[in-house]
Amino acid sequence: MIVLATSDKGGTGRSVTTSNLAYRRALQGDDVCYLDFDFGSPTAGAVFGIEAAGRGVKTGAGAHSYLLGDVAEPARIDIWRESSWLKKERPPGAGRLVLVAGDEGGGEFQVQPQMIERCQVLLARLTEEFDVILVDLSAGRSYAADIVQGATATIGAGTPVRWLVFHRWTRQHILAAHGLVFGERGIVQNGERLGYTREQMEDSIRFVRTAVQEPDSPQLGLLRPTQASWLHQCHEELLKLAAQRGLGRSMVAGVIPWDPVLQWREQIIRDLDIDSTQIANPETGQAFDDVALHLTRTSH
Ligand SMILES: Nc1ncnc2c1ncn2[C@@H]1O[C@H](COP(=O)(O)OP(=O)(O)OP(=O)(O)O)[C@@H](O)[C@H]1O
Ligand SMILES: [Mg+2]
Repeated sequence: MIVLATSDKGGTGRSVTTSNLAYRRALQGDDVCYLDFDFGSPTAGAVFGIEAAGRGVKTGAGAHSYLLGDVAEPARIDIWRESSWLKKERPPGAGRLVLVAGDEGGGEFQVQPQMIERCQVLLARLTEEFDVILVDLSAGRSYAADIVQGATATIGAGTPVRWLVFHRWTRQHILAAHGLVFGERGIVQNGERLGYTREQMEDSIRFVRTAVQEPDSPQLGLLRPTQASWLHQCHEELLKLAAQRGLGRSMVAGVIPWDPVLQWREQIIRDLDIDSTQIANPETGQAFDDVALHLTRTSH
């Protein structure tokens, strides 16, 4: 399966959440590859705790160099071995967890037909080796997104392609995510141009709400009663707006609660962070597990 992780706005929690989903799927036994296609800012290495790839790799063998044709194969990093958080944490039964990082200083570029071909070759190779490939696309409409959407359009029916669209729980983010998916030259329209039906596209797209503080969350326990009831009202308004804009419950893969560890350390949340040191909330781990499992439900 190929999972395309995107968002309209930057800083939505796309990389932090997708990295945690990759980790959870590997714990569930799948071989997982994380492909960092955020060419402007490929920082997934930092989330995985891999110092040498904190802002992409410096070797000139990252995903960006591969698409440009500079290397025959992008370098792979074994996350279980290289990550400072996960080094001694691979439990028996866990699948492979591999990062194909971006290049430090890569930047955006114009789409050339050869890049789509190279991307197709890379995805075909990876799908032979891995159960799940998560592709972190940059925010908004990008060349990377065009290349990957073009490349996945020719992938065989045996490899499902899913979109996860990340957004914060605010008015601006809901409107922006709606535009990215349903708007002019958005994901659905592009998909239709590539030969998919509208139903197929809508079936393959799900939204993930990130860093959500539900009005009854204990973290908001210090609010005055007036603030608490106002917050309930805001939450209801957002639910209504999301439903009106096609981001309602049936289109949601999951809701990731606000978590201090994600806010301050942007890291992988391990079970020991929940059970032993108790720095992360159990609800966050549960939400990651739920979304990770959701990916393979036949009808999402
Ligand atoms: N569930 C969460 N709880 C608390 N903070 C979060 C959560 N998810 C993300 N964050 C915070 O949001 C910030 C942005 O997250 P992240 O870098 O994953 O977003 P992004 O969409 O990949 O951004 P960019 O567009 O810059 O690549 C992080 O610094 C992190 O602190
Ligand atoms: Mg990111």
